[in-house]
Amino acid sequence: MSSKKKKTDAEVAQATVEVNPELDVEELEGIGKVTGAKLKEKGYYTIRDVAFASVKELAEIIGNEERAAQIIEAARKMLGLHSFISALEVYERRKKIRRISTGVRSLDELLGGGIETRAVTEIVGEFGSGKTQLCHQLAVMVQLPEERGGLGAKAIYIDTENTFRPERIMQIARARGADPDQALHNIFYARAYSSDHQMILVEQAKQIIKQHNVALLVVDSVIAHFRSEFPGRENLAERQQKLNKHVADLLRLADAYDVAVVITNQVMAQPDVFFGNPLRPAGGNILAHGATYRIWLRKSKENIRIAKIFDSPYHPEGEVSFRITEEGLVD
Ligand SMILES: Nc1ncnc2c1ncn2[C@@H]1O[C@H](COP(=O)(O)OP(=O)(O)OP(=O)(O)O)[C@@H](O)[C@H]1O
Ligand SMILES: [Mg+2]
Repeated sequence: MSSKKKKTDAEVAQATVEVNPELDVEELEGIGKVTGAKLKEKGYYTIRDVAFASVKELAEIIGNEERAAQIIEAARKMLGLHSFISALEVYERRKKIRRISTGVRSLDELLGGGIETRAVTEIVGEFGSGKTQLCHQLAVMVQLPEERGGLGAKAIYIDTENTFRPERIMQIARARGADPDQALHNIFYARAYSSDHQMILVEQAKQIIKQHNVALLVVDSVIAHFRSEFPGRENLAERQQKLNKHVADLLRLADAYDVAVVITNQVMAQPDVFFGNPLRPAGGNILAHGATYRIWLRKSKENIRIAKIFDSPYHPEGEVSFRITEEGLVD
């Protein structure tokens, strides 16, 4: 210490609140080996995981709501996460959000520079509207250096419908001047076989994110398994409850790990609409409230697609068009 430069007061003050968020949960006051093991079994490995947990979820694991609340509070304190902050701080935090270019200039402009980390972006549209194509493109774009719209980072791709195509990744990479083999190497892929499996994969994704520089997590499609496993009105409540947990998990992951989460959603026909658009996104208000941004894709002539942002807290409403080509999505 003596040979080093003396720390400023501000640095000392900061050091007292900045605990390494990756510290093991067992470093938390009041958590022993047994509780620690229980938490880890359910995917809460670090102080960060606990700080972003909900009381209800944690209470289910440790069997005591009051204690769960105390543990979460302790974790938040250790990480310096206070309940209220100034709007200026919100602004400073928002400046830390990073953006991944979609590779389509007009769509980037509509999105204010690309899709955001620390947010869940939902892509909704009918079959063939280009949702999966956009996911493939983003998995390549995130890898590009910053000056070319990327974050020089890796991607995780959770595929529920078996529509991921490495050949497509290679085509898009080539068109963007990236090495196709390297592009494949930088994508962690998993096929989800059920809604439960899909949720487990999100837990496992956290482990990958901790070890690798990952800035994008794709879930394509977020809803297909839920819809097929819980058909009809009689299963709706259970389905929505599970979906709610899944989307909350994704939001927390995005926020805690500074990752852009992109999910795709299907549209359903509403039989009772006579005027206006008879299609609406599946998943009801769970997805509507869970996603931070929603992009609606629509088919137009031939390979032309129209994108629109809806339900956004600050994006202007507007539409842009792009084409799906051999090279991926282009202006
Ligand atoms: N190599 C390619 N070159 C040109 N267009 C392509 C290529 N691959 C796919 N497409 C186009 O992309 C469209 C399919 O889009 P995509 O699979 O992304 O739809 P989706 O919205 O994911 O549909 P679903 O709801 O069925 O999953 C097709 O219309 C196809 O023409
Ligand atoms: Mg698809």
